Amino acid sequence: MSEPLLSVRGLSVRFLMPRGRHVAAVNDVSFDLAAGECLALVGESGCGKSVLASALLGLLPGNARTRGRALLGDGPDRLDLLTAGETVLARTVRGRRAGLIPQSPAAHLTPVRTVRSHLEETVRALKRPPPRALRAAAEAAAERAAFPADHLDRHPHQLSGGLAQRAATALALVGDAPLLIADEPTTGLDRDLVDRTVGELRRHADEGHALLVITHDLAAAERIADRVAVMYAGRLVELARAASFFGARGPRHPYAAGLLDALPERAFTPIRGLPPELDDLPAGCAFAPRCDRATDRCATLPALGGGVACHHALESADA
Ligand SMILES: Nc1ncnc2c1ncn2[C@@H]1O[C@H](COP(=O)(O)OP(=O)(O)OP(=O)(O)O)[C@@H](O)[C@H]1O
Ligand code: SF4
Ligand SMILES: [Mg+2]
Repeated sequence: MSEPLLSVRGLSVRFLMPRGRHVAAVNDVSFDLAAGECLALVGESGCGKSVLASALLGLLPGNARTRGRALLGDGPDRLDLLTAGETVLARTVRGRRAGLIPQSPAAHLTPVRTVRSHLEETVRALKRPPPRALRAAAEAAAERAAFPADHLDRHPHQLSGGLAQRAATALALVGDAPLLIADEPTTGLDRDLVDRTVGELRRHADEGHALLVITHDLAAAERIADRVAVMYAGRLVELARAASFFGARGPRHPYAAGLLDALPERAFTPIRGLPPELDDLPAGCAFAPRCDRATDRCATLPALGGGVACHHALESADA
């Protein structure tokens, strides 16, 4: 793999809560992402995927505390996203070096402004075109994300989920940032739009951008990703090449295998039980209460050695 564009090491995020409690939303996460590569981050609801994305873009609320490193770029431009500070992130990173398609696009658009006004403001800030070229540049940005020109003068509440998603995509692409994070880009879309979005995001990676796609949609992950990162209770439990994870080799972590087995087109068998509360994580493997392979050894936390964090990882024939 070429030099990573993004190198995350030991990233942890805690939320400080009343009465001295804390929520351990992201725990010691490390991964690299190269230009031209798509990494899909998958895992059940509440496992910390969006918090991880927010940490990388400096968008966490005030009660969050981060640890670790997240180095973006190379050479003199290299920057640690976790220590960069709000002024640097706002002026030089968000939109320019790292774009985000947020999980709830409509919630990120200002309700009283039209899509055109959002796009013109973003184009003005990131591209500084001459004033007479602004309107055309905003329309070109909309077209790039297949947002229909005849809906540009609508307000966010007048958009369907799919169109709000397109508007958010158009805004995220304006700055042509080398890193794009897409948080659930296919949720709520009909099949055609899912196909289109998957195709566009894959092209975006093929054009040389680094792409982190956060998704529940394992079928979309299979079509779009070069590698898959599986998250459970804030930890990465498997990091694998997509071809091997979804192919004959199969996943190696029992939780990852369970996620695939839950798919209707596979065994359609849900994983029993529920994920743990993130304010009360066990010292050992957090998946143990749900795991058929658990033994006494699992009371010790398994490291992500060789791409899988499990004391009894599945062999190919088991998967
Ligand atoms: N500001 C906050 N204060 C306390 N806990 C928070 C805060 N924001 C998020 N959390 C908790 O962090 C955990 C991870 O949330 P996150 O939104 O990252 O999950 P997710 O994996 O993106 O889920 P989904 O797939 O549903 O989007 C959840 O338990 C959530 O309740
Ligand atoms: S470490 Fe143990 S409990 Fe955790 S997934 Fe592996 S076998 Fe199951
Ligand atoms: Mg989320």
